[in-house]
Amino acid sequence: MCGISGIIDHHPVTRNLVTSIANLEYRGYDSCGMALLNGKGIEVRKNTGGVQEVRSREKLDNMTGNLGIAHTRWATHGGVTPENAHPHLSQSGDFAIVHNGIISNYQKLRESLIGEGIEFRSTTDSEVFVNLVEEAYEQKKDVLGAFLEALKQIQGTYSIVLLSAHDPENLYCVKQDSPLIIGLGEGCNYIGSDINAFLEHTRKAVVLDDGEFAVISRDSYEISDVGKREEREKSILQIDWDTETTKKGVFSHYMIKEIFDEPQTARQALDVPQEQISQLVEMFQNAPRAYLMGVGTTFFICQMAQYLFSSLSQRYFPAISADEFNGVVPVVSDDLVLAVSQSGETFDTKFSLNSAREKGARTAAIVNVMGSSISRLVDHVIMQGSGPEICVVSTKAALAQALLLLRTALELGFREGCLDSSTLRDHVQELETFPELISKLLNEKSGFLRNLARTTSSVQNWIFLGCGIYFPVAMESALKMKEVTYLHAEGMPAGFLKHGTLSMIEASVHSLFFIPPPADVELHNRTMIAIEEIKTRGGTLVGLHFEGDSQAASLLDHAVALPEVPLLLAPFVEMILAQMFAYYTALDLKRNIDKPRNLAKSVTVG
Ligand code: M6R
Repeated sequence: MCGISGIIDHHPVTRNLVTSIANLEYRGYDSCGMALLNGKGIEVRKNTGGVQEVRSREKLDNMTGNLGIAHTRWATHGGVTPENAHPHLSQSGDFAIVHNGIISNYQKLRESLIGEGIEFRSTTDSEVFVNLVEEAYEQKKDVLGAFLEALKQIQGTYSIVLLSAHDPENLYCVKQDSPLIIGLGEGCNYIGSDINAFLEHTRKAVVLDDGEFAVISRDSYEISDVGKREEREKSILQIDWDTETTKKGVFSHYMIKEIFDEPQTARQALDVPQEQISQLVEMFQNAPRAYLMGVGTTFFICQMAQYLFSSLSQRYFPAISADEFNGVVPVVSDDLVLAVSQSGETFDTKFSLNSAREKGARTAAIVNVMGSSISRLVDHVIMQGSGPEICVVSTKAALAQALLLLRTALELGFREGCLDSSTLRDHVQELETFPELISKLLNEKSGFLRNLARTTSSVQNWIFLGCGIYFPVAMESALKMKEVTYLHAEGMPAGFLKHGTLSMIEASVHSLFFIPPPADVELHNRTMIAIEEIKTRGGTLVGLHFEGDSQAASLLDHAVALPEVPLLLAPFVEMILAQMFAYYTALDLKRNIDKPRNLAKSVTVG
């Protein structure tokens, strides 16, 4: 979590630093700040609030300097206060740092520094580090030596960037279990917790690995190993993301913009070369056991895939939430763990992948962010190519992941003899029509969904229900609703309802049903039974159903009718429209849609 930025240039960096943390704000938005080195020393301005708010309150644009660091925070240690915002200054004010992660032994270090007369201004773990650097500098009179000496004393996870009044020619940084990337410019260099920190300025980057530090000047950079202090040769990553996709354009929020990006995102997922899918399929075929792992939305995408693998290739690959994976899955050598992660930095997913690797498992991942930790950790990675997803709430990236998993299940089904070549061809053709289909549906249904959201936005309790693959669609849609509207939305299998939750049913409790096309006879019948159970007890029924489904239409209090679509694509269509419904409900409730309270885009802490 938290966004880190650093820039060193021959020209003033103020404006670019402000823009950089504004572009990183989705990583955390409790508070933010900047530190610049100018002729008078290091100046820090910081406060609580979002970047634009702090920018105008603290007059960030009036700061001067041609090297500086900046941060946007998602609080872990220490409350959301101006003092706890980063950057943190050392006692003398000659050093400033920004830090992501958690320094686990900070309490002990803090007590010892207090014993030596250091006065702490914040209650963060981070402030300890900058004072350790200063303490070491007093002995060594060498900034790099002091930085490395201080590093020896800390434990935990961190990416840190250091600015020193004693060295106007360099920025210093280090990475351990928290992402850090160097952006390479012309006569200037950048540091960021992800590539959005500098995407507007350069497409060339070098990704730091754990245990590496870098000294970065305007015209060069040097990366070395913290332990051995030996320089390391690193390859340069060419970033092929389009900066246009980071702009909101005519849309009022990134969430709705990214929902309308979905036809393009689907196209990109369909354009991922088949060889990459085939390689993953072979891994599934060769593994004695295989597991699908993700967390939050990506867990629900894995659950959808669980149904796809089961129905299309007759294979059962359990989906497990990454935060629970380690505690429940007895991974052994040669098992396959497939992780799904938009950011490629999620702590729970990374941690479980690492421990599976230690036990000898093969690993693969579907990831969106280039150069991210998970993309570099696994034996085989499929880059989903969805472009930057800025809204904290995942929409287009989730769809792309689901489509890539569908392609994998189709090929596995064919190879395992569950699908003949003509059925496979039909499905592939159906998939080819999908981008256009979504585009049409988003345009046609947006008005209906907006009206429905207006009608129902005062509802406090939602139950989202579906059968078969529509069950994870319901779960994912409930999560979407919760995170963006702050309303209570509980997802469950429709058949589960009668085992307890039915007691809640009354008119004020709204149930949203994800109804399969009637041609999906068994699932449709099971869904209708649950609808009848609620109807009989006076609950309010809302549903997404397909045209021609007069049975569903006659029972629903509020219905959104969808045109006939191939059975294979129907759950994906409903998932997308539920994203839109959550968006319009949040809009009506005037929520902070792109940055819902208490959340952050990439959750890099455990
Ligand atoms: O970056 P990841 O895909 O690994 O993130 C996993 C979850 O934190 C993420 O999907 C979260 O649930 C989103 N806010 C959902 O919209």
